Amino acid sequence: MDSYNQATAIIPMSLQIFDGLVDDVVNMVEMMKSLKSDKDKLSCRLCHVFDTKCPKWHYDNVKYRLIKTYRGVGTEYMDPNNFPLTIANILLRNSHIDFRVVPEKFVQRANSGDILIFRGLQGGGFPVLHRSPTIRGISEDRIVLSVSLY
Ligand SMILES: [Fe+2]
Repeated sequence: MDSYNQATAIIPMSLQIFDGLVDDVVNMVEMMKSLKSDKDKLSCRLCHVFDTKCPKWHYDNVKYRLIKTYRGVGTEYMDPNNFPLTIANILLRNSHIDFRVVPEKFVQRANSGDILIFRGLQGGGFPVLHRSPTIRGISEDRIVLSVSLY
């Protein structure tokens, strides 16, 4: 096979993957639209990440945020059903507390392909504490979609 034929053999596959990604992003946005009121705003961001973007435990200042990792390690979060509300309340009200002290036994890790929808600080309930997973070296990267409702 010469180089021209190799290129034409690769391009249709790449377009298929791209179309699949676009379809999936549209589906994720549609899913978030179902939570949206007339006054809410929706934003969508697809990032290729090469470092640990948000390493500290935090809450997002949104109503809801959908996070889906297409490639690489998934987002880490505290399962609100297992994480004691007393600890969560202390963390929420005391931003000076070092969030690295969060007990490891409460940490949940999403897999690539999982769909996470976190309630944020504007969501009118208890928000979900989360952080970016640690990227270990230049060979690791992530492709992450976030769809936010404000
Ligand atoms: Fe976040």
